[in-house]
Amino acid sequence: MTPRFAEISRGVRDALGQDHRYAHVIRVARLADRLAQRHGEDPARARLAGLLHDLARLYTSERLVAECEARAMPIDAFERRNPIVLHARLGAELARERFGVTDEGVLDAIRRHTVAAGSMSRLDAIVYLADGVEPGRQFPERESFEALAFVDLDAAMAAVLRSSVAHLERQGLEAAPQTIAALATYRSVERTPLSA
Ligand SMILES: [Fe+2]
Ligand SMILES: [Fe+2]
Repeated sequence: MTPRFAEISRGVRDALGQDHRYAHVIRVARLADRLAQRHGEDPARARLAGLLHDLARLYTSERLVAECEARAMPIDAFERRNPIVLHARLGAELARERFGVTDEGVLDAIRRHTVAAGSMSRLDAIVYLADGVEPGRQFPERESFEALAFVDLDAAMAAVLRSSVAHLERQGLEAAPQTIAALATYRSVERTPLSA
Protein backbone atom coordinates (compact mmCIF):
# COMPACT_ATOMS: atom_id res chain seq x y z
CA MET A 1 0.00 0.00 0.00
CA THR A 2 1.52 3.29 -1.07
CA PRO A 3 1.58 6.29 1.31
CA ARG A 4 -0.65 8.08 -1.21
CA PHE A 5 -3.26 5.34 -0.80
CA ALA A 6 -3.10 5.57 3.00
CA GLU A 7 -3.44 9.33 2.83
CA ILE A 8 -6.41 9.12 0.47
CA SER A 9 -7.99 6.46 2.70
CA ARG A 10 -7.94 8.87 5.62
CA GLY A 11 -9.43 11.61 3.47
CA VAL A 12 -12.18 9.26 2.31
CA ARG A 13 -12.97 8.19 5.86
CA ASP A 14 -13.34 11.85 6.86
CA ALA A 15 -15.37 12.68 3.74
CA LEU A 16 -17.78 9.77 4.22
CA GLY A 17 -18.14 10.26 7.97
CA GLN A 18 -19.70 6.83 8.36
CA ASP A 19 -17.83 3.66 9.35
CA HIS A 20 -20.25 1.39 7.54
CA ARG A 21 -19.77 3.13 4.18
CA TYR A 22 -16.01 3.43 4.71
CA ALA A 23 -15.75 -0.31 5.35
CA HIS A 24 -17.65 -0.88 2.09
CA VAL A 25 -15.33 1.28 -0.01
CA ILE A 26 -12.28 -0.44 1.50
CA ARG A 27 -13.70 -3.84 0.56
CA VAL A 28 -14.47 -2.55 -2.95
CA ALA A 29 -10.94 -1.14 -3.30
CA ARG A 30 -9.39 -4.45 -2.19
CA LEU A 31 -11.54 -6.57 -4.48
CA ALA A 32 -11.00 -4.19 -7.42
CA ASP A 33 -7.24 -4.43 -6.80
CA ARG A 34 -7.34 -8.25 -6.87
CA LEU A 35 -9.54 -8.34 -9.97
CA ALA A 36 -7.22 -5.92 -11.76
CA GLN A 37 -4.22 -8.11 -10.93
CA ARG A 38 -6.04 -11.15 -12.22
CA HIS A 39 -7.07 -9.48 -15.47
CA GLY A 40 -3.89 -7.58 -16.29
CA GLU A 41 -5.19 -4.10 -15.43
CA ASP A 42 -3.41 -1.60 -13.18
CA PRO A 43 -4.26 -2.49 -9.56
CA ALA A 44 -3.46 1.03 -8.31
CA ARG A 45 -6.02 2.61 -10.63
CA ALA A 46 -8.64 0.01 -9.69
CA ARG A 47 -7.94 0.54 -5.99
CA LEU A 48 -8.16 4.31 -6.34
CA ALA A 49 -11.50 4.14 -8.17
CA GLY A 50 -12.80 1.69 -5.56
CA LEU A 51 -11.77 3.91 -2.72
CA LEU A 52 -13.33 7.04 -4.22
CA HIS A 53 -16.43 5.59 -5.89
CA ASP A 54 -18.99 6.41 -3.20
CA LEU A 55 -17.91 9.89 -2.06
CA ALA A 56 -21.41 11.28 -2.67
CA ARG A 57 -23.34 8.14 -1.69
CA LEU A 58 -24.64 9.55 1.59
CA TYR A 59 -25.89 12.83 0.13
CA THR A 60 -29.63 13.45 0.14
CA SER A 61 -31.47 13.52 -3.19
CA GLU A 62 -31.86 17.27 -2.85
CA ARG A 63 -28.16 17.77 -2.30
CA LEU A 64 -27.22 15.49 -5.20
CA VAL A 65 -29.42 17.45 -7.59
CA ALA A 66 -28.27 20.80 -6.21
CA GLU A 67 -24.56 19.92 -6.41
CA CYS A 68 -24.90 18.59 -9.95
CA GLU A 69 -26.79 21.72 -10.99
CA ALA A 70 -24.18 23.92 -9.33
CA ARG A 71 -21.58 22.27 -11.58
CA ALA A 72 -23.80 22.65 -14.66
CA MET A 73 -23.92 18.86 -15.02
CA PRO A 74 -26.81 17.70 -17.23
CA ILE A 75 -29.41 15.60 -15.40
CA ASP A 76 -31.47 13.22 -17.50
CA ALA A 77 -35.07 12.13 -16.97
CA PHE A 78 -34.14 8.87 -15.23
CA GLU A 79 -31.80 10.75 -12.89
CA ARG A 80 -34.57 13.26 -12.11
CA ARG A 81 -36.81 10.37 -11.09
CA ASN A 82 -33.99 8.53 -9.27
CA PRO A 83 -31.53 11.15 -7.96
CA ILE A 84 -29.63 8.55 -5.94
CA VAL A 85 -27.85 7.39 -9.09
CA LEU A 86 -26.30 10.87 -9.40
CA HIS A 87 -23.92 9.94 -6.58
CA ALA A 88 -21.78 8.15 -9.17
CA ARG A 89 -21.31 11.07 -11.56
CA LEU A 90 -21.05 13.61 -8.76
CA GLY A 91 -18.61 11.30 -6.96
CA ALA A 92 -16.26 11.50 -9.94
CA GLU A 93 -16.35 15.30 -9.73
CA LEU A 94 -15.57 15.15 -6.00
CA ALA A 95 -12.69 12.75 -6.69
CA ARG A 96 -11.27 15.33 -9.08
CA GLU A 97 -11.94 18.38 -6.91
CA ARG A 98 -10.99 17.02 -3.50
CA PHE A 99 -8.45 14.34 -4.29
CA GLY A 100 -6.90 15.75 -7.44
CA VAL A 101 -7.71 12.74 -9.61
CA THR A 102 -7.11 13.57 -13.27
CA ASP A 103 -7.05 10.04 -14.70
CA GLU A 104 -10.19 10.00 -16.87
CA GLY A 105 -10.22 6.20 -16.84
CA VAL A 106 -10.48 6.21 -13.05
CA LEU A 107 -13.11 8.97 -13.14
CA ASP A 108 -15.16 7.05 -15.75
CA ALA A 109 -15.06 3.93 -13.58
CA ILE A 110 -16.48 5.99 -10.71
CA ARG A 111 -19.14 7.54 -13.01
CA ARG A 112 -20.27 4.16 -14.31
CA HIS A 113 -20.26 2.16 -11.09
CA THR A 114 -24.00 2.46 -10.42
CA VAL A 115 -25.98 2.29 -13.68
CA ALA A 116 -23.14 0.95 -15.86
CA ALA A 117 -23.00 1.98 -19.54
CA GLY A 118 -23.45 0.57 -23.02
CA SER A 119 -19.70 0.80 -23.56
CA MET A 120 -17.40 0.09 -20.63
CA SER A 121 -13.65 -0.34 -20.25
CA ARG A 122 -12.23 -3.30 -18.38
CA LEU A 123 -11.42 -0.96 -15.50
CA ASP A 124 -15.06 0.20 -15.47
CA ALA A 125 -16.19 -3.43 -15.33
CA ILE A 126 -13.76 -4.28 -12.54
CA VAL A 127 -14.99 -1.43 -10.36
CA TYR A 128 -18.65 -2.14 -11.18
CA LEU A 129 -18.20 -5.79 -10.24
CA ALA A 130 -16.16 -5.06 -7.12
CA ASP A 131 -18.93 -2.75 -5.92
CA GLY A 132 -21.66 -5.25 -6.73
CA VAL A 133 -20.15 -8.44 -5.36
CA GLU A 134 -17.88 -7.32 -2.49
CA PRO A 135 -18.07 -9.66 0.50
CA GLY A 136 -20.26 -7.29 2.53
CA ARG A 137 -23.12 -7.67 0.04
CA GLN A 138 -25.72 -10.25 0.93
CA PHE A 139 -27.55 -12.02 -1.86
CA PRO A 140 -27.60 -15.69 -2.82
CA GLU A 141 -25.44 -15.52 -5.95
CA ARG A 142 -22.76 -13.21 -4.47
CA GLU A 143 -20.04 -15.81 -4.05
CA SER A 144 -20.59 -17.40 -7.44
CA PHE A 145 -20.58 -13.97 -9.10
CA GLU A 146 -17.35 -13.05 -7.33
CA ALA A 147 -15.75 -16.31 -8.44
CA LEU A 148 -16.94 -15.73 -12.02
CA ALA A 149 -15.47 -12.20 -11.98
CA PHE A 150 -12.01 -13.74 -11.49
CA VAL A 151 -12.54 -16.07 -14.44
CA ASP A 152 -14.37 -13.98 -17.04
CA LEU A 153 -15.14 -10.28 -16.66
CA ASP A 154 -17.65 -10.19 -19.52
CA ALA A 155 -19.62 -13.18 -18.26
CA ALA A 156 -19.62 -11.75 -14.74
CA MET A 157 -20.90 -8.42 -16.05
CA ALA A 158 -23.69 -10.17 -17.95
CA ALA A 159 -24.61 -12.19 -14.86
CA VAL A 160 -24.57 -9.26 -12.43
CA LEU A 161 -26.44 -6.94 -14.79
CA ARG A 162 -29.07 -9.60 -15.49
CA SER A 163 -29.49 -10.14 -11.75
CA SER A 164 -29.73 -6.39 -11.05
CA VAL A 165 -32.35 -5.81 -13.73
CA ALA A 166 -34.37 -8.80 -12.49
CA HIS A 167 -34.11 -7.53 -8.92
CA LEU A 168 -35.38 -4.09 -9.97
CA GLU A 169 -38.25 -5.65 -11.92
CA ARG A 170 -39.31 -7.74 -8.93
CA GLN A 171 -39.44 -4.55 -6.87
CA GLY A 172 -41.43 -2.75 -9.55
CA LEU A 173 -38.55 -0.32 -10.16
CA GLU A 174 -37.22 0.84 -13.51
CA ALA A 175 -33.70 0.08 -14.68
CA ALA A 176 -31.69 2.98 -16.11
CA PRO A 177 -31.38 3.07 -19.92
CA GLN A 178 -27.61 2.77 -19.44
CA THR A 179 -28.09 -0.45 -17.47
CA ILE A 180 -30.28 -1.95 -20.20
CA ALA A 181 -27.67 -0.93 -22.77
CA ALA A 182 -24.89 -2.49 -20.69
CA LEU A 183 -26.81 -5.74 -20.37
CA ALA A 184 -27.33 -5.88 -24.15
CA THR A 185 -23.61 -5.30 -24.71
CA TYR A 186 -22.40 -7.94 -22.26
CA ARG A 187 -25.04 -10.44 -23.31
CA SER A 188 -23.65 -10.24 -26.83
CA VAL A 189 -20.06 -10.87 -25.78
CA GLU A 190 -20.39 -13.27 -22.86
CA ARG A 191 -18.84 -16.65 -23.15
CA THR A 192 -19.25 -19.61 -20.89
CA PRO A 193 -16.56 -19.68 -18.18
CA LEU A 194 -15.25 -23.01 -19.43
CA SER A 195 -14.47 -21.62 -22.87
CA ALA A 196 -12.62 -18.61 -21.43
FE1 LIG B 1 -22.34 3.71 -5.21
FE1 LIG C 1 -20.50 1.33 -3.48
